[in-house]
Amino acid sequence: MSEPTPLFDADALGELYANARAAEDAGDIETAARLFRECLVMDPDDHCGVAMRLAAYGLATPDRAPPAYVATLFDQHAEVFDDVLVSRLGYDVPALARALVGPFVSHPVRMVDLGCGTGLSGETFADIAGHAIGVDLAETMLAMADERDVYQDLYIAEAVDFLETWDEAPFELIVATDVWPYLGDLAPFAAAAAKALTPGGLLVASTERGEAGWSVTKTQRFAHAGAYVEATLAAAGFEVLTSEAIIVRHEEGVPVPGDLVLARRKG
Ligand SMILES: C[S@@+](CC[C@H](N)C(=O)[O-])C[C@H]1O[C@@H](n2cnc3c(N)ncnc32)[C@H](O)[C@@H]1O
Repeated sequence: MSEPTPLFDADALGELYANARAAEDAGDIETAARLFRECLVMDPDDHCGVAMRLAAYGLATPDRAPPAYVATLFDQHAEVFDDVLVSRLGYDVPALARALVGPFVSHPVRMVDLGCGTGLSGETFADIAGHAIGVDLAETMLAMADERDVYQDLYIAEAVDFLETWDEAPFELIVATDVWPYLGDLAPFAAAAAKALTPGGLLVASTERGEAGWSVTKTQRFAHAGAYVEATLAAAGFEVLTSEAIIVRHEEGVPVPGDLVLARRKG
């Protein structure tokens, strides 16, 4: 769980952020950066995600999207999430992940769906989940996941924190579809995932594909290079079983390329 959020004046923050975005849109990056930094002073938890915007100009190096920003963003979009992502943007990663995992699962598994959102993956994996847990930072997304009635338990938590503190029966399958784009440095995730899995346990996760290492995209997400993902998983004790190129979704008609990775914790 994240620390309690200090109080701030939401109206004043909103105005400051709007002014920063207007300066950015006008091409006045110096003013935008100054105003974004003022947002951070007012709201160090960064509900507006200004660190991700500053990163686009090389002015900040967040190693993950601020949790307060992720929760705010997805709480705002929860009601339209399925319609926009699946129907309009052609998002199909849960089904692709399910197909990739299929040949490697022969009995119902204990699974955790990290960044479960509205439960699209929970629903897709329901036929092979003996016990399914959903975890997400956004409470409204979790409420919608609850309505799908495919999870035995749902937790409001940050994914890496959740894995690191998990002290019950280890998982046999970790699913993280379209969640790594909100995490830059994947090393903490990989280490925590290995710890929370049984030996031989599986991890399936998707990326937006980047050039080298990890980087912040123009759309305020993280992109990961395939070689970086494979090296990071190997360093944490995973064997990469397969990695396949996918189209994550379409943005303004343009396909967003990514990779879908299936890895097994070494015994
Ligand atoms: C693009 S949605 C994908 C949802 C779902 N996995 C799917 O495939 O439909 C990303 C979800 O991950 C959650 N998320 C992002 N970063 C997270 C983190 N560090 N810990 C927990 N949840 C996170 C967001 O709140 C959001 O619900």
